[in-house]
Amino acid sequence: METKFETLFFNRVNQQYKPVKLDNLLAQHLLITGVTGSGKSTTALSIMMGMKAFHQNLIILDPTGEYQSIPNSRRVVLGRDSFLDVNHLNANEIGKMLDITHPQLLSKLPLAIESLQISRNVLKSTAVYKKIDRTRDNHQFNLKRLRIANKDFDLNLIADQLIEEFVIPRNDDKADFTLLGQQYDQDTIQSVWSDLETLRLALRSLKVTELPEDSSDNHIVHYDVGYLINLFVTHRASEQSLIIDLSEYANDIHLSQTLIDILTREVMINRQRFPKKFPVVVFIDEAHRYLPKVIASDNGIFSILREGRKIGVDLMLSTQSPLDLSAKLIGQFGSFICHRLGSPEEVDVLPPALQKSRLELMALPVGEAFLKTANSSDVTLVQITPASVEHNTNNISFDI
Ligand SMILES: Nc1ncnc2c1ncn2[C@@H]1O[C@H](COP(=O)(O)OP(=O)(O)OP(=O)(O)O)[C@@H](O)[C@H]1O
Ligand SMILES: [Mg+2]
Repeated sequence: METKFETLFFNRVNQQYKPVKLDNLLAQHLLITGVTGSGKSTTALSIMMGMKAFHQNLIILDPTGEYQSIPNSRRVVLGRDSFLDVNHLNANEIGKMLDITHPQLLSKLPLAIESLQISRNVLKSTAVYKKIDRTRDNHQFNLKRLRIANKDFDLNLIADQLIEEFVIPRNDDKADFTLLGQQYDQDTIQSVWSDLETLRLALRSLKVTELPEDSSDNHIVHYDVGYLINLFVTHRASEQSLIIDLSEYANDIHLSQTLIDILTREVMINRQRFPKKFPVVVFIDEAHRYLPKVIASDNGIFSILREGRKIGVDLMLSTQSPLDLSAKLIGQFGSFICHRLGSPEEVDVLPPALQKSRLELMALPVGEAFLKTANSSDVTLVQITPASVEHNTNNISFDI
């Protein structure tokens, strides 16, 4: 069966439906753009509902809880009925999640995590791992045992453990270099102190990683989102889509950014580890909010854009303005659905084929867009057929 959208895009010029192959629309990533209210989410929803008819695997990262009524979906709310297992994360991701920026703390973070892993799994302790007066030999022995032990650890102790990492030898003739350290490096600890306090605050308010308080309530099933992602990228999920609702963190832009970064990277890592023939589409709505100003080369969204195609991971992104994305990112998209744009500058960063319709682009009615698919420089003015289900827009209605 050829997977083609038959009645999704109505060609406004020749007044006929334009058949569009799913592959052409998605295989080189799709950018949906347009000012607020121009119809992006409605378009995305129509495409996703169409995709499900083709039994396409779909993961929706929903930063605002907008996609609640999609039928046949496994929807989890991070921080409420699902959690992120920190034991899957590397030090870099944990650093980002906790917004640790001090170079001294960042450089000690991998060691602190390793120490907490030793404490819990080798020493069976619930306390921090003391490095002061510990011999190098003893530490090596513990590290060897850790190799074959579990690697889980108590993230709540990370600030205290970081202090334990700042140990140095004595600076007199009693210095013993066979020990990891004999005294605390007071100067450094003082210089990182306020960052440590901020870190403690971040730990207190972080509820991504823990089960909610009512986790003993066995009516609520708690999911590890890493596990769900793994399931959805390695198994055909013909009936269901996975929606990860991140709305609990909607007010914390930094954390939302980091979570989307981590979750998209999780998609890539799982897929690289278990290559599969069938494609997976990841959709991120309102991406302008969640793209950091400076994109690191290991950013999850960027790595899907750059390397996803090779392993069958396609990205569908919506954003209010193409200016939200760097030229480097825009260059990775093969397909574009451009709803109304607000300024000529926004049109300027689009592929040349779309720039020809500059004036029309800035005057499009709601639900209409210019469509350009991969492998073609044709641009078509289309009206998008809304799906029968609705997404919740943020408009609040009042009962008067
Ligand atoms: N193709 C369409 N046909 C008919 N109505 C539409 C269409 N697209 C959007 N609308 C209507 O326009 C309104 C705004 O649409 P939508 O929420 O999709 O915009 P948006 O671009 O996602 O906005 P925002 O940036 O604020 O999220 C909705 O009430 C929706 O019903
Ligand atoms: Mg929207």
